Amino acid sequence: MYSLIVENFKCIIAAGGLGTRLQDFRGNKSTKILLDVKGTSMINRQISQLYGWGMRKFIVITNPEYLDMIKEVTLNNFDNLDIDFTVQEEPKGISHALYQARKFVNHDETIFFALGDNFFENNPFKNFDIKEFKDGACIFTTEVSNPEEFGVAEIDSDGNVISIVEKPTRPKSNAAVVGIYMFDSSVFKKIETLKPSARGEYEVTDLCNIYVNENKCLNLDVKGWWIDAGTPERIIDLEEKLS
Ligand code: G1P
Repeated sequence: MYSLIVENFKCIIAAGGLGTRLQDFRGNKSTKILLDVKGTSMINRQISQLYGWGMRKFIVITNPEYLDMIKEVTLNNFDNLDIDFTVQEEPKGISHALYQARKFVNHDETIFFALGDNFFENNPFKNFDIKEFKDGACIFTTEVSNPEEFGVAEIDSDGNVISIVEKPTRPKSNAAVVGIYMFDSSVFKKIETLKPSARGEYEVTDLCNIYVNENKCLNLDVKGWWIDAGTPERIIDLEEKLS
């Protein structure tokens, strides 16, 4: 099995979303990241997944209300891991969440950013030497039949990212941008230049487009299944895939 430890990466997990589409699912009254997925909370399953890909230093971004619960659940399970926690006080979008982790990242470190509810069949950089990635951003895409539910990338025949659009009504491709990203440490300065979108959020898509416009956004294809476990149907699908 692939077991390379990825040095010099900080792995940041966005675990702040309340998951309104999952309230009351199996009696859930808290945050989706604490939902049980086949005997393991979503957050611990996520940390295990990322650990399996070689990540060793983690920062978990939570919403203030659930910080203590999430700390307890993760630290009880991974008492030997380097995990820091930080809070996103208001739900102002994924880029805003990432910004809350800035104090834990050194200039010479690279960021692997994962949305807490995204799960994958395979290691997404199995065929890519992640140590080669130092500068710019990297998105990961996969072909889907419902691109309008995700960020969608337009990619030219040489594999360059031309643009990314958040949940477009008329998608230009079927390439959904999955919820994992790599960024160099200039990302925090870039977030400072973002404006809120029409729905009032600092979008991760707008952040990636800054790198696209600088010709510094790489795309890697994700092979195998991918699940953004943000709805009851997708959690059930995930559990079936895991069995
Ligand atoms: C978020 C991002 C979207 C991305 C998706 C992947 O959407 O905004 O660009 O494609 O995650 O899971 P959300 O699931 O928060 O609506």
